Amino acid sequence: MTTQLIRTAKELHSLPRGGRRAVVMTMGALHEGHATLVREARRLVGPEGQVVVTVFVNPLQFGAGEDLDRYPRTLDADLAIAAEADADFVFAPSVDEVYPGGEPQVRITAGPMGERLEGASRPGHFDGVLTVVGKLLHLTLPDVALFGQKDAQQLALIRRMARDLNFPVDIVGVPTVREGDNLALSSRNRYLSDADRATALELSRALLTAGTSAGKGAASVRRSAMVILDSAARMEPPLRLDYLALVDPSDFTEVPDDYSGEAILAVAAKVGTTRLIDNIPLTVGAAR
Ligand code: PAJ
Repeated sequence: MTTQLIRTAKELHSLPRGGRRAVVMTMGALHEGHATLVREARRLVGPEGQVVVTVFVNPLQFGAGEDLDRYPRTLDADLAIAAEADADFVFAPSVDEVYPGGEPQVRITAGPMGERLEGASRPGHFDGVLTVVGKLLHLTLPDVALFGQKDAQQLALIRRMARDLNFPVDIVGVPTVREGDNLALSSRNRYLSDADRATALELSRALLTAGTSAGKGAASVRRSAMVILDSAARMEPPLRLDYLALVDPSDFTEVPDDYSGEAILAVAAKVGTTRLIDNIPLTVGAAR
């Protein structure tokens, strides 16, 4: 299986179309989580369809003081992983190719859902994400686009954008891929030292343990997760919690203590200089 590297929108637009086209958008530094999205893309469009992986570190979604400059860039390894997962094309444009006029004046605004949780910690982040996702949808013109539940708020906002702005594309969510020790795979995991990683593991442990209390209600879930996160704050290096939230998947507002139904338990924290996020879907409250 050969995977073709494409650098420009012009080359992309000149490709003949055959069958359905699926796109998996990434910022590169590909890992097994990304590969799972690519394999799922292939499964959805079949052998006759086209699978396009985009690799673009989008400056617009990084805030001042975030890790734009040190974000890993590993295009050769990315091409090998994309090929192994059966992608037809890797579209890896330059910043000038995506933003030929410099910073775009007109952008997509994420609205209130984009100001909660990740959006509260990273102002403007989701406007940057949706603007580039909108542009990459226009550039790649897929029938279906796949995104990971690892970034649950991003996925919910992209679904909302497609619906609110009539993007003619199916948005498909793919469950989070974890390591054997339950750490959610992330391009940023490569920043972690062994000691950092031991602390980072408390994130998934808190979520998965709290998940076992889901039948006892929202307050019990939050309490159970906080016990573990509080003790992780005393580890060396410490876990520095940004937020723990149990939210309604449709708008990312906190659910009340007497809630019953589908929810997402989401967490963000820093270990050393690395910011990590994780979440799990839960059915909260008394089983009906
Ligand atoms: P990136 O962090 O590279 O992630 C690309 C895609 O892979 C996203 O849909 C993300 O949710 C998914 N993903 C990452 N880790 C995963 C895991 N452990 N399991 C399952 N899926 C996982 O998210 C972005 O890039 C950017 O914001 C982007 C959408 C490309 C816009 O720039």
